[in-house]
Amino acid sequence: MSVNTIKMEGISKSFFSTQALKNVDFECRSGEVHALVGLNGAGKSTLINVLGGVHIKDEGNITLNGESVNITNPIEAREHGISIIHQEYSLINELSISRNIFLGREIHKGNSPFLDYKEMDRQVNELLEKFDLCLSPNMLVNELNSGQKQFIEIIRSLMTDAWLIVMDEPTSALSEKDKEKLFEFIERLRNENIGIIYISHHMPEIFGVADEVTVMRDGQRIETFAIKDTTEAAVVKSMIGEDLKDFIKPEKHHIGDEILKVKDLNLGEQVRDVNFSIRKGEILVLTGLRGSGIEETAKAIYGLEPEASGEITYKGEALPLKKGPRFKLNKRIGFVSANRDKDGILHPQSVKDNISLPTIKKLSRFGYIDLAREIKLSEQGIKETTLKTESYNTQIKFLSGGNKQKAVFARWLDNDVDFLMLLEPTRGVDVHAKAEIYRVIEELSEKGLTVMIVSYEIDEVLMCADRVLVMFDGKNVLECGQGEIEKEKILAGIAGVGVDNERPEGCEA
Ligand SMILES: Nc1ncnc2c1ncn2[C@@H]1O[C@H](COP(=O)(O)OP(=O)(O)O)[C@@H](O)[C@H]1O
Ligand SMILES: [Mg+2]
Repeated sequence: MSVNTIKMEGISKSFFSTQALKNVDFECRSGEVHALVGLNGAGKSTLINVLGGVHIKDEGNITLNGESVNITNPIEAREHGISIIHQEYSLINELSISRNIFLGREIHKGNSPFLDYKEMDRQVNELLEKFDLCLSPNMLVNELNSGQKQFIEIIRSLMTDAWLIVMDEPTSALSEKDKEKLFEFIERLRNENIGIIYISHHMPEIFGVADEVTVMRDGQRIETFAIKDTTEAAVVKSMIGEDLKDFIKPEKHHIGDEILKVKDLNLGEQVRDVNFSIRKGEILVLTGLRGSGIEETAKAIYGLEPEASGEITYKGEALPLKKGPRFKLNKRIGFVSANRDKDGILHPQSVKDNISLPTIKKLSRFGYIDLAREIKLSEQGIKETTLKTESYNTQIKFLSGGNKQKAVFARWLDNDVDFLMLLEPTRGVDVHAKAEIYRVIEELSEKGLTVMIVSYEIDEVLMCADRVLVMFDGKNVLECGQGEIEKEKILAGIAGVGVDNERPEGCEA
């Protein structure tokens, strides 16, 4: 078998003022699984997007088997046998598996304009059978689950004669069973002399499947280890670097009694026997990888996961899991979803209307809204959150992401709730707005509000948490209280260091 080697040397890439890649060297061979790891923003996606022709490098060279190659668009990358599977699938739901796989490269009957469906189906079926996929070429893609879609993307890569397949965080949306299947699949691809670049944060997966691991930090390649010569803890340490001057929050002195207790919360594979409690005035941050179950945990408490089971006690009383938002709001429980642009904000409405949203019932007497009070509250909210807007009458859609987010927080300043859940409170928000949002959260909690934050960002965890609960693969694996919150320990928990990995047969690295 011939061995292909792709070498990236001295790659640099900037986006406006952000230097995403600084002089990065990276090498991968066919028949090798090479994991690429690093904290969010380290430059992993940018690096593989340069390799895949999605981004054009500012500097550096790429060689394939020693010869310089020019990759300026995805088609050129494919011509060199490089295929990238992005996190958002690129399949068309309304078409069959076979049509998707041959999209743009259809086989014709002889020289006629007619498509040879039979031949295309035959070729697809051959690969589906070879990899034991139990799917038929005629199935529509919208009948597939995310695991199966991933497999079809891989099959499509193989059919374009790719020798290198890049997977960007492939398992975050997969079920346990599909993950196992994916690892088996990867193992077989390796035996077929395919090279794989595997981006993940999941240490047991990496140590189960990869031969080598390259660590990136702040746009630089830090080091490359052979998996057999390193440990999960060493890789995590390398991801963080020496810079451990962590921001530690001042200790809080006024944390009260337990206000919410979650007992044996379960939701299929996503949440498994999760137990924790929160005390009044406390900020609890739930963190983990995407897919670890932290979002589902919050949603279940708010009644947005009808399949969830478990017991919740709130202010000493049982809180029915299945009762939805209206019921929970009446119990003074608030929830700010992560997908604000979709469902947190009323776009055509003014800043004032958005701020007064949950209070509107209180403001209205006999069906009329007390406008003077509504204005007063919005003005107060704008001031307290340092929200930048021309007036409370400005339509919210004209505000920046950070300011929209402040409007969402301003809603809760009037203290309509005692317990507030915030999903990814600073997603898509710039650093300055982030700091202000953290300040507002801190102030709300100073006033006695209990806050539960769902966050995927380690810095946010360290800036906000009085207590941290780390989940991994649906289970709570680590809890740290005041004085115990340490970056390295938390990152190791997030990455599942030390969690037993049930490797599929024959997947030993
Ligand atoms: N299209 C883009 N425009 C501007 N900045 C970007 C773009 N893509 C990435 N970045 C920035 O480049 C840095 C590296 O990002 P990325 O490669 O996505 O990291 P990772 O995949 O390791 O999380 C980040 O600071 C990110 O904000
Ligand atoms: Mg990325």
